[in-house]
Amino acid sequence: MNNFCLIGNPVEKSLSPKIHNNSFQYIGIEGTYTTFLVLKEKLKETLDCLKTLEFKGFNVTIPYKEKILEYIDELDESAKLINAVNTVRIVNGKLIGYNTDYLGFKYSLQERKIELSTSKICIIGAGGASKAVAFACASLNPSHITILNRTIEKATNLKNELSKNFNNIEIDVFENDEITDFNEYKLIINTTSVGMEPYINKMPINIKTINSESYFYDIVYKPRKTMLLKYAENKGCNIINGIDMLIYQGLLAEEIWLNQKLPILKIKNYLMRGDIIGNRI
Ligand code: ATR
Repeated sequence: MNNFCLIGNPVEKSLSPKIHNNSFQYIGIEGTYTTFLVLKEKLKETLDCLKTLEFKGFNVTIPYKEKILEYIDELDESAKLINAVNTVRIVNGKLIGYNTDYLGFKYSLQERKIELSTSKICIIGAGGASKAVAFACASLNPSHITILNRTIEKATNLKNELSKNFNNIEIDVFENDEITDFNEYKLIINTTSVGMEPYINKMPINIKTINSESYFYDIVYKPRKTMLLKYAENKGCNIINGIDMLIYQGLLAEEIWLNQKLPILKIKNYLMRGDIIGNRI
């Protein structure tokens, strides 16, 4: 039996069980995916249990994507680069850590054929979710990245981590309200929780100038259109929400766990049907 799960806190609203259980059924794999709400002091014990119960792998979510590093036996390149793990494969009792948020975000841009080489990108937020997004953006060879964050120190830390690996990209940091002219950015990504419950009527930035050729990407998927995306769409910009990244990171995790290539686009289209995930967001 192939058993998988999500560990984190909170986990009860996660769409991951829907994604994986339907995907397993679609590809004809006998597997189960469940969620475990894990308290900080029980993290080590939980990992031991998953090994004992012969789980093949699991996902990690808030607030353990970095904390889990101390228990991981081996890190793949993406997890090493970002220093955060969202996917673990268990092989002979060993934990191997990966970061499929990174590749999942890149897939969502590739699907839309968004070319970012020599472009300017603006990333809003400098928390856990922003790291994978920022490294994925940097790997696409942009000329410039602006990081906006409420707490400037965190933006500066992220800038320093990026600069160590990508010294040819100009990176600057500001507090959210310091930039109001977004005209020059080809891609603007919100990685903060502003736009989600309970902040559904808020935007993370103040926009004075906007370019209708730009892409506005919000990694939030519920609501389907945050205030930021509604605003941008109204101005004629291209908009993307977080559902594609979520599904891609999940299906990429399945490829790792099952050690096989999957028809990712086909499964994703199946999952997006109204009766599976489409109507739940
Ligand atoms: P996650 O793992 O989801 O990224 P996180 O690490 O707590 O969670 O980061 C949340 C991000 O949203 C941070 O960039 C945070 O800004 P701070 O670094 O200043 O805390 C941002 N954020 C959360 N609530 C916000 C709010 N009300 N206004 C502006 N930014 C907010």
